[in-house]
Parts: sequence; structure tokens; C-alpha cells
Amino acid sequence: MPRIALIPGDGIGVEVVREARRVLERVAETEGLDFELTDWDLGAERFLRDGVTITEDEFRALDEDHDAVLLGALGDPRVPSNQHAKDILLGMRFRLDLYVNFRPCVLLSEELSPLASAKVPLRLEIFRENTEGEYTGMGGGFKTGTPDELALEENIATRKGVERIIRAAFEFADSRGRERVTLVDKSNVMRYVGGLWRRVFEEVGEGYPHIVRDAMYVDAMVMDLVRRPEQYEVIVASNLFGDIVSDLAAEVTGGLGLAPSANVHPGRHALFEPVHGSAPDIAGTGTANPVGAIRCVGLLLDHFGHRAAAERVESAVVASFESGDTTPDLGGALSTAEVGDAIVDRLDIARSPHG
Ligand code: NAI
Ligand code: MG
Repeated sequence: MPRIALIPGDGIGVEVVREARRVLERVAETEGLDFELTDWDLGAERFLRDGVTITEDEFRALDEDHDAVLLGALGDPRVPSNQHAKDILLGMRFRLDLYVNFRPCVLLSEELSPLASAKVPLRLEIFRENTEGEYTGMGGGFKTGTPDELALEENIATRKGVERIIRAAFEFADSRGRERVTLVDKSNVMRYVGGLWRRVFEEVGEGYPHIVRDAMYVDAMVMDLVRRPEQYEVIVASNLFGDIVSDLAAEVTGGLGLAPSANVHPGRHALFEPVHGSAPDIAGTGTANPVGAIRCVGLLLDHFGHRAAAERVESAVVASFESGDTTPDLGGALSTAEVGDAIVDRLDIARSPHG
């Protein structure tokens, strides 16, 4: 039985994870699945109360006694340093070596896209490298604060790191019948790191001869994602480029409130979180859109091999959307809990949108 740690966190994280939990419980019941859910009190409240962000024992328990984590969001105006978010989120990402950041950006309905030309189906499935690149904190400063100041931020790429994320993208494409994998880089300028990515992309891609592979410079890619996003399917990129491209793709397919993400070390551990943050500006008003968090439940079910259950969640989201059961950010009038109700009610009748 998969053991899931629920970390609602801060702000609207608490509100959206409550709905995600209800969806998970109901779909598990409907599909006859068993999950063990445990509640974790990690976040700004705890940090302000006890001065502790996350302990060694808690990291160990998350690693050894759980198979996955469902996280809401971390961030609170009372903790301007954001120390707890760094400790908890980056801590899990690096200690659990969650090297795949999977961000599926799927357009549910044409009016959700800011692009007039966007058509359903539009499915951009992004594999962002999650442990290397410019995000390791390697670097330093010299003569800081003087006119001769120097700052260095290293871009780290290892063959192992590059190969495993590229392989994850091709494996996914292969297992889901996707026809194209696109590498995003800037290898015309960043030749050492870019060169490594290109070589490994070719090497790994040769093992999947039925999948079309192409490479795009990141600047051309962002233009194309606005101009003709429908020609892309699976996209693989380094940490920095993946971060940028996935935010754009999320916006093109309906925006922050709808986008889920998974941080995965295949075969070992996974952390699911909506792409949005804790939204202190609307926390407590009951208007947060729970769909990003609820779609995380879909990703979680899929991760544990329950594809039908995952599709049931996605179909219920689409059905509730088609009936206009949405929160104010999408022009609706329902509360977070009412959207949760609308989706839970449709789980029993939901059928796969993909036939
Ligand atoms: P944010 O995503 O929390 O909010 C940006 C804007 O989108 C706000 O106007 C907010 O009201 C709106 N929004 C976000 N999610 C929404 C939802 N589900 N329904 C309706 N509207 C929604 O990003 P922001 O404001 O930059 O950050 C707020 C806090 O969240 C900060 O402390 C930040 O560090 C943290 N954060 C945490 C993340 C995480 O836990 N992974 C990711 C991004 C930000
Ligand atoms: Mg980002």
C-alpha cells in the first residue's frame, strides 16, 4: 500500500490540499485502491512556533517510511527569508535526488488559453532536470560590494545527470505513444554544457528510432511556444531552461491555478505539488482554485500505475469545468470547497477524455 505524506504547508496550500485529499480518498474508494495518508505539520506556522523548519528525523521518515509526498505550497509573509521553504522543498529535492521535474501542461478547454489560436488537444509534457544546472548554489563572490566585484554562478552538467533526465523523457514518450521529443538548450553559445546535452540526446534518442527528435535553442523555443505550440509534445530541458519554458507552457494552457507538477526519482520517491505558490493575497478567502492540486492527485495515481484512476480525475476536472463549476480566477463564482465538491461528485461518472 503506497504511503503518502500530506504536507499542506502555508496559505492556500492548506485549502487546496484539503480538496486534493478528498479527491484521492474518493477515487481510491471508487477504484478499490488503498493508500495510507499521513498528515505533516511542516510550514511557516511550525517554524514561527518552534524555530524548526524540518529535522533530520523528519527527512529520514519522509524518505524511508513514505513512498510519495503531496505538498501544497510553502511561503509566508511572516518569514521573509523563506528559510522553511528552502529547507523543506530544496531539502527534499536534493536529499531524495528527485531528478525529474515533470510538468504536464494540458489544455482542458480552448477558452482557458490566452492564445486565440490555441486548439484542443494541446499537450506539452515537460521534463525539467531538477538537480543540476545553475541551481546547485555552486559559485561565489569576490571583492563583494566594491567596484571590482566579481560574481560567479556555475552551470553544472554531469553525464549521469543529463542522461537520466533525457532517458526519462524518451521512456515516457515511448510508453505513452508520443511521437516527438524536443531538446531545449542554448548550445550555440553555451558550447560545453550544450554540447554534452546534444551528444547525450542523440545517443539516447537512437534507442528510440520511432520517436522524432529535434533540438531547439531556448529563445526560438519560447517564440514557437506562443506561435505554434501544438507542434510540440514531450520537451526536455536543463533546470533553468525547463523552469522558464514550463512557466510559459503552463500559462499557454490555462495558467497557474491549473498546473500540477511531479518531482520524481523513478523507482524511489516522488513529490507532487501544484505549480502555484501559497498566494497570501487570497489565502483564507476560500477562492483558491484547487484544480492544480487535484491534478497532482492524477499524477500521483499515474505514478503508482493506476492510469484509469488518473484519467478518472482528469475527466472529472474537465466535466466540472464544462459545467462552469470554477473559482473566480477562471470567471466562476464557486469557492475552493465547492469546486472540490463538483469534482468529487463527477468522479463516479467520469470517463476518460482520451477515449
Ligand atoms: P503565487 O503562485 O502564490 O501567486 C501568484 C498570483 O497567482 C497571486 O495573485 C495569487 O493569488 C494567484 N494564484 C496562485 N495560485 C492560485 C490559485 N490556486 N487560485 C487562484 N489564484 C491563484 O506566487 P507568489 O505570489 O509569487 O508567491 C507567494 C508565496 O508563495 C511566496 O512566499 C513564494 O515564495 C511562495 N511560492 C511557493 C512555491 C512552492 O511552494 N512551490 C512556488 C511559488 C511561490
Ligand atoms: Mg518557476
